[in-house]
Amino acid sequence: MYTEPEQQEMQADPDWLLRQAEALLDGYEDPVANAANLSALLYHSLPDVNWAGFYFLKDGRLLVGPFQGRPACVEIPLGRGVCGTAAASRKILRVADVDEFEGHIVCDLASRSEIVLPLIRNGELLGVLDIDSPVLDRFGPEDERLLAGICEIYVRSLGD
Ligand code: SME
Repeated sequence: MYTEPEQQEMQADPDWLLRQAEALLDGYEDPVANAANLSALLYHSLPDVNWAGFYFLKDGRLLVGPFQGRPACVEIPLGRGVCGTAAASRKILRVADVDEFEGHIVCDLASRSEIVLPLIRNGELLGVLDIDSPVLDRFGPEDERLLAGICEIYVRSLGD
């Protein structure tokens, strides 16, 4: 059973989140089931997060997948918004202030900062992992490292 971590626990063991993710996905290859459990894990473990979830590349655009948070826009064209830009460039985007990002797509008015990581499997773009925060400049290099680890665990879980 999952129990929410104490902040001290997360601080004492920075890789706690990665181990939880490995344990949750162990033995499961289903892309939707694994994305659903990871979004719940991230939403309930990371402080100051108001949206955590997946967009999957489908028919040339991003389509919303499993997530936690307020209802979100269903489709995002490649190259649009933070998600579409990260997907098109295949680069991690950390946006300290979403109001300063031209073309940012508002899903929840409370969101102030955002991080988006592309999901790439054997050179193929699968989609993105997107996390929003109501706090300005919420995501630093350590969040980026952990979330990149989460993306790796997700992609690996899908098998070959
Ligand atoms: N803000 C994102 C849209 C997705 S939501 O934040 C869930 C963007 O600009 O791509």
